[in-house]
Amino acid sequence: MSILPDLKDAFRHALADLADDTQKEELLDLIRRSGDPKFGDYQANFAMSLGKQLARPPREVAAEVAERLELGDFCHQPEIAGPGFINLKIKDEWLIERLTEAVGDERLAVPVVAKPRTYVVDYSAPNVAKPMHVGHIRSTVIGDAICRILRFLGHNAISDNHIGDWGTQFGMIIYGFRNFVDEAAYQDNPVDELARLYRLVRQLVDYHAGNRSLPEQQSQIEQREAALAARKKEAGEKPDKKTRKTLRKLENDLTDARAELDDLTAKLAVVQSDPVLSRLAAEHAEIGTAVLAETAKLHEGDEENLRLWREFLPPCEDEIRRVYGRLGVTFDHTLGESFYQERLGPIVEELQKKGVAKQSDGAICIFFPDHDVPMLIRKKDGAFLYATTDLATIRYRMETWQPDAILYVVDHRQSMHFEHLFAAASLIGYDDLELQHVSFGTVLGDDGRPFKTRSGDTVGLEGLLDEAVRRAAAIVSENDDAKPDGRELSAEQREQVAQRVGIAAIKYADLSQNRTSDYVFSYDKMVATKGNTATYMQYAYARVRSIFRRGNVDIEALRSSGAPILLQEPAERALGLELLRLGEALDLATTDYRPNQLTAYLFDLAGRYSTFFDQCHVLKAESEELRDSRLLLCDLTARTIRKGLELLGIEVVEQM
Ligand code: ARG
Repeated sequence: MSILPDLKDAFRHALADLADDTQKEELLDLIRRSGDPKFGDYQANFAMSLGKQLARPPREVAAEVAERLELGDFCHQPEIAGPGFINLKIKDEWLIERLTEAVGDERLAVPVVAKPRTYVVDYSAPNVAKPMHVGHIRSTVIGDAICRILRFLGHNAISDNHIGDWGTQFGMIIYGFRNFVDEAAYQDNPVDELARLYRLVRQLVDYHAGNRSLPEQQSQIEQREAALAARKKEAGEKPDKKTRKTLRKLENDLTDARAELDDLTAKLAVVQSDPVLSRLAAEHAEIGTAVLAETAKLHEGDEENLRLWREFLPPCEDEIRRVYGRLGVTFDHTLGESFYQERLGPIVEELQKKGVAKQSDGAICIFFPDHDVPMLIRKKDGAFLYATTDLATIRYRMETWQPDAILYVVDHRQSMHFEHLFAAASLIGYDDLELQHVSFGTVLGDDGRPFKTRSGDTVGLEGLLDEAVRRAAAIVSENDDAKPDGRELSAEQREQVAQRVGIAAIKYADLSQNRTSDYVFSYDKMVATKGNTATYMQYAYARVRSIFRRGNVDIEALRSSGAPILLQEPAERALGLELLRLGEALDLATTDYRPNQLTAYLFDLAGRYSTFFDQCHVLKAESEELRDSRLLLCDLTARTIRKGLELLGIEVVEQM
């Protein structure tokens, strides 16, 4: 059982013909945990809006629904309060029964779903041959957590890493390899040398493109300046509120445009001020077109480019595998873009035959009734696109796994692509398939702009992990040194703990954010020992475990001893109720694919636990029976934290 979903079921039933199905779900969303135990454990706050819809007094509607509620031995008779709140208090016997069940259950009394579904989860998907950077963290850890949670709930979740192994970046390294390779460095460490080539070619391509766009950017700024000056003049000495607002907006836009131009000028200056780079830039003036030509040759099956591609791919794959190893992330499948090459031509033809895709100006597009822009699936020159590959990928996944849903854990900047893709899938006839863009915001630096290194490069993922582990190591040592009876950890243990704490900090910092917002990356905050962090949760776990060591408690024996759970103190009851909310938190986390529902729950749980621990003696409890019961509550807390963290892809430590 999971409390909230079960309550909703009971209310759904009781609402019967008072509302239609969609209305019902909206009303049921208004059933929440109550903020104050005075008003029970849960509250249904929908009678006001239902009363309005039915033109009846809300209290009367509330009473009618309460009357019809069938809660069995779950809750006390509901109470109606104020304008029509329905307050529900769970029976202690029921809580105790469920907690007793959880004590003896690996799943902590979380049921598996009644109707398991098959999900394909598409996440991480870096473009290989470029080093992985900070942006890849989000997709990787959110996708991994979603898979783990779905599986725990009994669904079939298939993870598929749709890596970019066929794109322009290969044109870049092929060009770079032909022109700039350092043979010895390549023999020594192919991945580093390929990454260097990628960055170099990228820098030169961007340099020329930037140079070309410079006049345009400058003239735009001049136009903006002129427009602002004209508006100011027109507005006179004392502009009204609305005009002031317009002026402010124009000023802000101008500031942004100037900042962008400054960034660009700085980037150009890096190349210009470096004798080697500026010579290379001059020698490779056509590098942009040349790179595209190399990519096109690869796609057309050019022997030599294919040979190079086959040579470059394995070390690139090893590299990402190594990073996944550090993160503890695995995939069932890694079917990258190249896997679908043979399928692109046929699918375009098929869509044309079906009338879903049409010729337009030599290119082939899918037009949508309710989107202005069509989706391009083959260019005039015959080249296929990212979108074409994604259509072929849906087809393949449907044929191979017959999923009920495909989730794409991808940056919010691709939302337009996915809107089109999903619309196309529905034109093709995949109507029963749930397609979701599980999008996420950008990782920002302290300055509120996308997180970059001082030199303006994106931050490498590995460097980020190293730094987090370094900071974790400092915290672990400091903490261990300060222990009243002296150090507990060997150097080796400290190192191992620091690894777990550091990686956990990075993951949790990301997972605990509302995924759709941007968030500011901060090492200090993520390894803080207080607040909603992994470090705090790992501490909470280790502290509970240390009680068993201190008290010489054989917790496994106690678990199977049949010792009863007692909920006498309010803090005990509050903790017990919270412990039974794991299923509810997982349910919320999967409704809209939001792992932060789980972190929020774990943080609440840790809070209830610390109140309990402040107010109730455990090892020194008044009676043996009470001591055993409290030890079991401690144990359930530790196991719930461990399970919750495991579902987020985070490991606990026994001591820290
Ligand atoms: N490789 C892409 C990128 O780095 C992400 C791919 C996401 N998955 C997909 N099926 N489109 O932008």
